[in-house]
Amino acid sequence: MLILGIETTCDETSAAVVRDGREVLSNVVASQIDLHAKFGGVVPEVAARAHLESLNLIVDEALRRAHITRPAHQLDAVAVANCPGLIGCLLVGTAAAKAFAFAWSKPLIAVNHVQAHLYSVLLQDESANRRAGEPVKNEVADSPIRRFADSVSPPFPAIGLVMSGGHSSLYHVHSFHNLRRIGQTQDDAVGEAFDKVAAILQLGYPGGPLIDKLAESGNPLAIKFPMSLLEKDSLNFSFSGLKTAVLYHVNGKQGRQRDASALSLQQKADVAASFQKTAADMLVEKLRRAAARYPAHALLIGGGVSANTAIRTAVTRLGAELTLPVFIPPMRYCTDNAAMIAGIAHGLLRSGQTADLNLETIATV
Ligand code: KG4
Ligand code: ZN
Repeated sequence: MLILGIETTCDETSAAVVRDGREVLSNVVASQIDLHAKFGGVVPEVAARAHLESLNLIVDEALRRAHITRPAHQLDAVAVANCPGLIGCLLVGTAAAKAFAFAWSKPLIAVNHVQAHLYSVLLQDESANRRAGEPVKNEVADSPIRRFADSVSPPFPAIGLVMSGGHSSLYHVHSFHNLRRIGQTQDDAVGEAFDKVAAILQLGYPGGPLIDKLAESGNPLAIKFPMSLLEKDSLNFSFSGLKTAVLYHVNGKQGRQRDASALSLQQKADVAASFQKTAADMLVEKLRRAAARYPAHALLIGGGVSANTAIRTAVTRLGAELTLPVFIPPMRYCTDNAAMIAGIAHGLLRSGQTADLNLETIATV
């Protein structure tokens, strides 16, 4: 089965063709980073307009790379992320998906983009061209990270953690289509915290990858930032306290006495590494609590922040400690992409869960 996926929830315009839910034939992602960088964050109206301008080209390119010349004959369905996200952005992708589905007389499939982030652990990297059954190569040097052979699916139930610019959410996962949220952030999402700390350090936007890089040359034990874990048994997250602690450390009391230009590069790297370690410790502690409270045979992570080196390593160590297999998406499928949308849609199509042309977009779920 071949499914075209469309993803326009935030600042990436993406289209992909995936075979049978796992084999990525094409995944085209147009990032809008350059458009938003000068504003220091995503401007929703600018993002929606950019999706409108580029989506048809991106879909054409995804079909071309997948050698789809007659979509009405070759495709089985059109899938779109219709929630959650920026409403103007969701509208562009959803309207386009409806038009394609109508024009080609194909079923339309609605996908929750946060659930799709967890599904991305199953995607086969089209560039790697591995043989079935062959283990995925380690992506983090000198770490115990081991991804699983392509043919392996997680044993359920599992604990899933989605970490992105908009979410830090824990799930008890019975299947990729049946999951219950058991924890979420009470304030900033973890990706937001990375982006804000990068802004405090005057690194630029988006901050996650920049912090990750800078932290490589920093000492994670240089500064002891407070861990906010909420009540003893809470599975919710709070990152605003950590962000404020970084602000006060860098800018002085009340956050206004000086700024990051007063720090040397090494001092900035120490702040980045110490912040990153604290965030990783907080995430791992919630995973540990969830695995202790709910039956779990595996740990799954997904979302843009799951590209973070320290977090990938910390979660893998937790898996080893708890003797649970850890499923981590290939790097390129951590941040927003349409392959995960087309991938998860396969199971929805097989179980007849299709949408009609009245499909709505939902900003928050
Ligand atoms: O999943 P995603 O692409 O979009 C949302 O659904 O929000 O996640 C984007 C977030 C941004 O906050 C970005 O800074 C963060 O993921 N991110 C990272 C890394 N790469 C992307 N955060 C930490 N380390 C990274 N390597
Ligand atoms: Zn996302």
